[in-house]
Amino acid sequence: MTEEPTDTEPLVIPNRQTPFSEPFKAFIPQGWAPYPDELPAELPAAASAALRRRALAEAFAGERLVIPAGGLKPRANDTDYRFRPHSAFAWLTGLGSDREPDAVLVLEPTDTGHEATLYFKPRAPRTDPEFYADARYGEMWVGTRESLAEMSALTGISCAPISEFSGALAKNLSAVKVRLLREADETITATLGSLRAEASVDAEAAEIADGEFHVALSEARLAKDPFELGELRQACADTAVGFEAVVADLPEAIRRGRGERWVEGVFGLHARHHGNAVGYDTIAASGDHANTLHWIRNDGEIRPGDLLLMDAGVEVESLYTADITRTLPVSGTFSPAQRKVYEAVLKAEAAGMAAARPGNKFSDVHAAAVRVIAQHLEAWGLLPVTAEESLDPTTGGHHRRWMVHGTSHHLGLDVHDCAQARQENYRDAELRPGMVITVEPGLYFKSTDLLVPEELRGIGVRIEDDIVITEDGCEILSDHLPRDPDAVEAWMASIWAR
Ligand code: GLY
Ligand code: MN
Ligand code: MN
Repeated sequence: MTEEPTDTEPLVIPNRQTPFSEPFKAFIPQGWAPYPDELPAELPAAASAALRRRALAEAFAGERLVIPAGGLKPRANDTDYRFRPHSAFAWLTGLGSDREPDAVLVLEPTDTGHEATLYFKPRAPRTDPEFYADARYGEMWVGTRESLAEMSALTGISCAPISEFSGALAKNLSAVKVRLLREADETITATLGSLRAEASVDAEAAEIADGEFHVALSEARLAKDPFELGELRQACADTAVGFEAVVADLPEAIRRGRGERWVEGVFGLHARHHGNAVGYDTIAASGDHANTLHWIRNDGEIRPGDLLLMDAGVEVESLYTADITRTLPVSGTFSPAQRKVYEAVLKAEAAGMAAARPGNKFSDVHAAAVRVIAQHLEAWGLLPVTAEESLDPTTGGHHRRWMVHGTSHHLGLDVHDCAQARQENYRDAELRPGMVITVEPGLYFKSTDLLVPEELRGIGVRIEDDIVITEDGCEILSDHLPRDPDAVEAWMASIWAR
């Protein structure tokens, strides 16, 4: 199979790199085994991605749709963060972890529909300096990357070299409406801006059209297809393994000090081992840290008798992530005060789940959960008004002092999935089968909160599960991990007895 030559210039970092000699350049391409002739199998997501491309193309008939993967992002100087494609690109191509920096998917309108082309930088032949001198793309630096034919076999999409993309983007701009996913790649956004100006395309109207496209790409992902549900199930199963490993190592986390970091590391090890990575920074919050909602500093002690609020999710290779929280008694049993708070949150979660069914709105899940939260706060004498008064969104809201966040969000390729969906299609929309959301009420009593009795201060509890809406209710995808407090204690004891 022939390889595309590139115009790569050897990367020269003058302060530390030794220039390559001419004899080296002549010697380095020789004596390597040929690349395999056999093409790779299609990606597991490829068939679903083809259906998604077709539906998207039908929604934007006659228009050129441009969805970049995005580029590598420098962490510092010449070292990059690990690559993650834009989620819309992953969703439409089936490409997941590490693939494919700088690639662009173009859906070009034709007389009969759309033709998809994936533009990317195919590996260069070994005669090209890319092979040995390009730290971002070269085989000696980042491994063997795909040829055009291999990428096409993986994705089921026709592929072309990225060098042909600018021509495809610029073609006939005054006659063809182009929609670009602008946030994915700033360079392409800037290039298209210039091209549109040259072609006298109304910039403001084009930006609005691009924005509509961004929203459509988000809303198209609201209900998950069977492939996505399988991946999310796997992410939840892998996450349960990580939580079990954390429980097994809790005594060690206490013993070593800086135990929050230890458990973050243990979970991260399993996330990386089972899947691609963590789907978001793990929250490992012990004691009063549990009352900081996004506690990702994780530099605290884990002390006997405290709770550990652990909010963590494995992201699988296809980039779908779980998002699960368990609040665990570090020594294996809840104190009476911890159990009182925990049981209130558990009842709120159950109420939220009971409201999670077709016909109900997304916002009904939150309403059901916070009603239980407010009722408990009233019963404990903490609310300055009745629970009903507090639940009035304009004149109340007092209960929010102790649960300031929402109960749910959509979950998928992004932990907060479908973020561009409009309110009428998100918060105010009816739940539909296939939608995957979290249910995650909590109660947070800061150590500095003088309005709560001393026994509750420093206790923070969140319980978070991932559910899929079914025809007549919901199914808990994260059911591997116990929630009931007795079951949690028994589960922890059984892990420690192994
Ligand atoms: N882990 C972030 C969240 O629960 O939304
Ligand atoms: Mn969540
Ligand atoms: Mn979470």
